[in-house]
Amino acid sequence: MNKKVFLSGVQPSGKPHIGNYFGAMKQFVDLQNEHDGYVFIADYHALHSLRNPKEMNENIKNILLDYLAIGIDPKKVTFFKQSDISEHTELTWIFDTITTMPFLMRAHAYKDAEAKNKEIDVGTFNYPVLMAADILLYSPDVVPVGADQKQHVEIARDIAEKFNSTYGETFKLPNSKIMKDMAIVLGTDGRKMSKSYGNTIPLFAEYEEIKKCVMSIVTDSSGGIPQNVFAIHRLFRPEAELNKIYKEKSGKYKDLKEMLVEDMEKFIAPLRERRKEFAKDIPKALAILKAGSEKAKKVASKKMEEVREKIGVQVY
Ligand code: ADP
Ligand code: TRP
Repeated sequence: MNKKVFLSGVQPSGKPHIGNYFGAMKQFVDLQNEHDGYVFIADYHALHSLRNPKEMNENIKNILLDYLAIGIDPKKVTFFKQSDISEHTELTWIFDTITTMPFLMRAHAYKDAEAKNKEIDVGTFNYPVLMAADILLYSPDVVPVGADQKQHVEIARDIAEKFNSTYGETFKLPNSKIMKDMAIVLGTDGRKMSKSYGNTIPLFAEYEEIKKCVMSIVTDSSGGIPQNVFAIHRLFRPEAELNKIYKEKSGKYKDLKEMLVEDMEKFIAPLRERRKEFAKDIPKALAILKAGSEKAKKVASKKMEEVREKIGVQVY
């Protein structure tokens, strides 16, 4: 029986935090046992905010180590780099010619940038189209992403439908997959955990850093149960256990935070150690990525041949 296929991309945008892990990264590890998978480093996506070549280069290597450390298995998942596969940008152009401006103006990323009166580059405007090409080249059944990316997967679906109705059945329609309980992980200030809010807890934090982050969680003094602490704690211990403990220790914020520090350390320490192991041999890690890109290239170039045939540019 053919396994279902999942695909997702991750931007090399700095240190991952536990929101990224529970909202997105973890799903890939869970899915790889029952699915064939594609996971790629979306370096071309990151270009619109990352224009320092040295930082880009380092971030790519760092995210490679991050994913190997959380348990992405290159035997089960084709793990590759977007910029190695020129078909992504090639297909973007073809999609651009069947996608209207008003349609893309509905995308959240564009609307947010516009609301902030930012000068918007064409790349940011076109971001969902590149993402559609990323997805559709590999015919995945599911695209695991955080809730904020759901709209982009829907746009990919719409673009696939438009292409199919214009040129004939070519692309499989993808579905997004959002982890229900974990859809939004909250940060130390109670807002959504995000690098741009400075309220994150790094996934590979050392013990002291975990402690510092947890101690900085803003506690509300109503009702004796610190909601912000609880919201993060439930990622590391079953909620039923926590309900009991938080009732018993009502009002004792320091005790509860100390317990969270220990629970987090238990979870993070093995990941942190695995990452250190991979970091000892960067060329080996890079060879894994390169082999993944070679595999992905075969799939993408085959799909592009079909696309060129369908749009009529194939004459030889
Ligand atoms: P950030 O907001 O920190 O810049 P990104 O935008 O780089 O994070 O998100 C990378 C991935 O992690 C996306 O799939 C996104 O949906 C997911 N993600 C980010 N923050 C959270 C969060 N607080 N809770 C759940 N998922 C998240
Ligand atoms: N835009 C996604 C993010 O910021 C990353 C991404 C790029 C992606 N291409 C993708 C995710 C294709 C899923 C499928 O997180």
